[in-house]
Amino acid sequence: MTKGMPGRLEGQIAFVSGGLRGIGLAMVERFVTEGATVVYSDLDPEDSALVAETSARLGPNVSYVRADVTKENDWEAVRDYVEQRHGALHILVNNAGIDLTGPVETTALNDWHRIMAINVDGVFMGTRIFTPLLAASGGARRGGASLINVSSIMGLVGYADTSAYNASKGAVRMFTKAIAIEFCTKKMPIRANSLHPGFVHTPLLQAGFDRWVAKGAAGSSQELIEAMAGLTPLGRLAEAREIAAASLFLASDESSYMTGAELVIDGGWTAQ
Ligand SMILES: NC(=O)c1ccc[n+]([C@@H]2O[C@H](COP(=O)([O-])OP(=O)(O)OC[C@H]3O[C@@H](n4cnc5c(N)ncnc54)[C@H](O)[C@@H]3O)[C@@H](O)[C@H]2O)c1
Repeated sequence: MTKGMPGRLEGQIAFVSGGLRGIGLAMVERFVTEGATVVYSDLDPEDSALVAETSARLGPNVSYVRADVTKENDWEAVRDYVEQRHGALHILVNNAGIDLTGPVETTALNDWHRIMAINVDGVFMGTRIFTPLLAASGGARRGGASLINVSSIMGLVGYADTSAYNASKGAVRMFTKAIAIEFCTKKMPIRANSLHPGFVHTPLLQAGFDRWVAKGAAGSSQELIEAMAGLTPLGRLAEAREIAAASLFLASDESSYMTGAELVIDGGWTAQ
């Protein structure tokens, strides 16, 4: 935010799932800098050292709720918390997600169900539980409330040994288009768009690379980072703050004519 200028999200209430690390954390940081009041959730206990340190750093306009996106009860508790504390929600980011790699013929059904539960059911439940509050809050904004579902380039193009993740992110992409049309048809003031990051250096990506190294697929995670950078037209991985910058555009009224769309931030990966 430029000093002295109002923030781009002044007066807005936002919720970000999976906001304690990586892309979600960068979004929380950017939204609060732009004047929003932010509630974020993750799996870590509310009294954990990481939550205490993060919340202290982010200041009084940010609060944390422990919630597992696969649990309906947790979503109800989050909705009650936001409603009671803030009485409105203008921006919902369904960000929490996990990855899963491996050949299709050895992917266990349990692992398939687990990734779908977090990456797909979590997005569905977050959308469902917050739709009434978003609709009630969105009328006050030119562009309506903004719902952002985090997909991936893996929701746009296939990749070897990533079929479960590909399928989950493809579902997020199509679900987002369907609800965008549903909201328009019913004249509900909510825009819904999906966000499609390329390779972003976060704890999730690092853990994935570490697993490949453990399987003997590469000598070190640095080797994998360099290989992925080499396959990316811009020649490097993204930083989480670069994805947060795109989410800020979707969250703000600057994207007021955008709904049902895909915002791709991938260093040119899917342009090839
Ligand atoms: N990192 C990338 O390269 C990349 C690329 C494209 C899309 N994405 C997507 O972006 C989103 C964020 O990814 P990231 O790289 O920041 O991951 P990350 O692992 O660094 O952060 C994700 C956060 O979500 C939390 N989380 C996981 N399961 C949860 C659950 N059941 N309930 C609540 N919180 C949960 C984790 O604890 C973590 O804090 C994910 O949806 C991911 O699929 C990531």
